[in-house]
Amino acid sequence: MPAYTATALAHPNIAFIKYWGNRDDVLRLPQNGSISMNLAGLHTHTRVSFDPGYEVDTFSLNNQAQVGAGLERVSQFLDIVRTMAGKNWRAQVESANNFPTSAGIASSAAAFAALAVAASHAIGLDLTERQLSTLARRGSGSACRSIPSGFVEWLPGDHDSDSYAITLAPPAHWSLVDCIAILKETYKMTGSSEGHRLAGSSPLQQARIASSGARLDRCRQAVLTRDFDALASVVELDSNLMHAVMMTSTPPLFYWEPASIEIMKAVPEWRRSGLPVCYTLDAGPNVHLLCPETSVAEVRSRLEGIHGILQVLTAAAGGGAHITTED
Ligand code: DP6
Repeated sequence: MPAYTATALAHPNIAFIKYWGNRDDVLRLPQNGSISMNLAGLHTHTRVSFDPGYEVDTFSLNNQAQVGAGLERVSQFLDIVRTMAGKNWRAQVESANNFPTSAGIASSAAAFAALAVAASHAIGLDLTERQLSTLARRGSGSACRSIPSGFVEWLPGDHDSDSYAITLAPPAHWSLVDCIAILKETYKMTGSSEGHRLAGSSPLQQARIASSGARLDRCRQAVLTRDFDALASVVELDSNLMHAVMMTSTPPLFYWEPASIEIMKAVPEWRRSGLPVCYTLDAGPNVHLLCPETSVAEVRSRLEGIHGILQVLTAAAGGGAHITTED
């Protein structure tokens, strides 16, 4: 067993205010701040072992050896960790998700948050939460939001060192639940990294960015005061704005499926009829329905009436990324 080993766990997160477009694609400095909630129950577990005797990095996901772009992205991330530690050791990285990969839940946030914690610990770095969030951001922007616990805000910053995420409120602050309507596998979609590069080609991106400060203020306030109606209106607006940018970039990106739109049309009706629930979509067709814990059963039952949903996963607010064993 190699001496320099650590294992960490991180949750994915769902953005209430979205990250779409970078000022710097290499450093992943976003054009706007974002706000999210970690998803309890869903997680990535990652074990990193550095060994001065290894000649190359290896990476397995759910027990399957990864090659090509997946391995390359992990290896480049490890280069950043190696530079910070002043070591050139290669590593063995073993990762596993407890949610079905085929469910199309974006896993890069949990993946790079767990990798940042495990790799930095294994190589002997003692990083603060802010430094871990900054580091995770370099692997995947949204990963910086999976480092702190609960309801989280990514402060966009101007430089590498001041672009990181902080906790706005702990998980117990608000018993919100994300009901994720899984519609189909999203393997062949344009990935987020490519999407961020295209965002600037949409004539709508500038307007989205210019108005993002006001939405961040509304969303932060809604979270801090547990005001569901205020949260619902700003979350749906922000998701629609991001998808408007996606659909008007060159080339255009259409992530929705017919069932996505059916749900997006139904949810505000349900809300008007007295059921507190709102929707948001990331770079895929799955619809995230946010609601208070007391409404989950009713939301599930209404979703049963919609054709094209493969399954519904539920997740309450989750904690931050952390070491699970010292190995
Ligand atoms: C639509 O963090 O996945 O989910 O930095 O290239 O890995 P990379 O992008 P990523 O982008 C997330 C985009 C989003 C919105 C969000 O989570 O804020």
